[in-house]
Amino acid sequence: MTYDEFREEVRKLKEEGKYPSLKSYTLPALWIAEKNFPCIDHEVMRIISSELGVPLVEVEEAARFYAMFHTERKGKYVIRVCTNLSCMLNGSYSLLEELERLLGVKVGETTKDGLFTLEEYECMGLCDGAPAITVNEERFLKVKKEELPTILKKFGWKGD
Ligand code: FES
Repeated sequence: MTYDEFREEVRKLKEEGKYPSLKSYTLPALWIAEKNFPCIDHEVMRIISSELGVPLVEVEEAARFYAMFHTERKGKYVIRVCTNLSCMLNGSYSLLEELERLLGVKVGETTKDGLFTLEEYECMGLCDGAPAITVNEERFLKVKKEELPTILKKFGWKGD
């Protein structure tokens, strides 16, 4: 998506008139950016600020506060491993360690090919499927360590 296309999307969002104030479009606009850019950079925040009439500092605060938004460049696929109680008790830390080993990165890092970013995450509301991981919007429940290579291959991982 180009910056001009993004500006147009934010305008369309406003026209939908779903929310009570322009400020309340900040998070939906950030979501559009999150899905369409490698990161939410300064220009993206500036567009949101100017289109919604929200101070730039408030857009920046929102973008940096919520863990689901990336203000640093992320991989094409963001792998999130929940390590809250249910998932932790069902082995999420061993999934995290295995993913670090398979991908050759530490939590918070992106693979050199730019394909994957690995993140430790708070409860995603998928506790009955613990341990749960997500890859972008896709959910994987009751994940076993041995299944990780198959999951990664689905997203273009070339390891073995
Ligand atoms: S504790 Fe992991 S999804 Fe809720």
